[in-house]
Amino acid sequence: MYELRLEGKAALITGAATGIGESTARLFNKHGAKVLVADVNDDLGEKVCKELGQSSTSYVHCDVTKESDVETAVNTAVTKFGKLDIMHNNAGIGGLASPSILENEKSDFEKIISVNLIGAFLGSKHAARAMIPNRCGNIIMTGSTCSRLGGASSHAYTSSKHGVIGLAKNIAVELGKYGIRVNCVSPHLVPTRQSKDFYKLDDEGCRGIYSNLKGVFLKPEDVAEAALFLASDESKFISGHNLFVDGGASIVNPKFCMFE
Ligand SMILES: NC(=O)c1ccc[n+]([C@@H]2O[C@H](COP(=O)([O-])OP(=O)(O)OC[C@H]3O[C@@H](n4cnc5c(N)ncnc54)[C@H](O)[C@@H]3O)[C@@H](O)[C@H]2O)c1
Repeated sequence: MYELRLEGKAALITGAATGIGESTARLFNKHGAKVLVADVNDDLGEKVCKELGQSSTSYVHCDVTKESDVETAVNTAVTKFGKLDIMHNNAGIGGLASPSILENEKSDFEKIISVNLIGAFLGSKHAARAMIPNRCGNIIMTGSTCSRLGGASSHAYTSSKHGVIGLAKNIAVELGKYGIRVNCVSPHLVPTRQSKDFYKLDDEGCRGIYSNLKGVFLKPEDVAEAALFLASDESKFISGHNLFVDGGASIVNPKFCMFE
């Protein structure tokens, strides 16, 4: 029997119908948390909750770009679970089809910023509202290696993920006095619907993406494990941190490396 690392905790995860969010919902639930799955894909979100059991999970439709949806999602978590301990701002959409700034439309740029960055802002704002009176809480953002690297995705996506890290640091500073921790988990390319669509890759293609660490391949479940660490009391003194789950890919330029 493994130790339940989130026993008694209540979590809300956005973008939890598929991919990294779904894996995180499953893992948090396995570790004893009650989980509110929030997404725009109602069928898949409901399916996840049905599989996990409706006594400890629930689904809410939530478009993270709409403040009223986010507010309702947080209120639903508090009503159903009595509190909100963990807010995982995970919902995100991929980059633009064309990498060139000359071809990027303002409206497309705004759409990505709206989901990836403003969604995280709204999630944090309403989670903070629920957490401050309890003087504890845990906010996690899904960043990306694009929060450190340039050129791996579109301008909009890279900007959104750099922005999420700045947002997390700023909120961590403000909310520290209430005992609320704020951190990011930043994966490298992991095979999910988003990455496969954007990079036009299948599972095998995703495995071929450069990582400094050889012989292992990143899965959504590995990102969920990192989120679990940040959500659990094992990381109780960690705040304002960006935890890379990238096999060392973002620390080296493989073309300029003396160890190859
Ligand atoms: N897959 C990767 O390679 C990778 C790498 C680094 C970071 N990320 C980040 O991980 C997060 C999860 O992505 P994923 O790879 O699991 O993709 P995914 O497409 O499998 O899952 C994203 C989920 O977000 C939901 N979503 C989209 N727009 C939404 C909105 N407006 N409101 C609420 N939910 C919305 C989708 O319905 C979907 O369920 C994103 O923030 C993404 O940028 C992914």
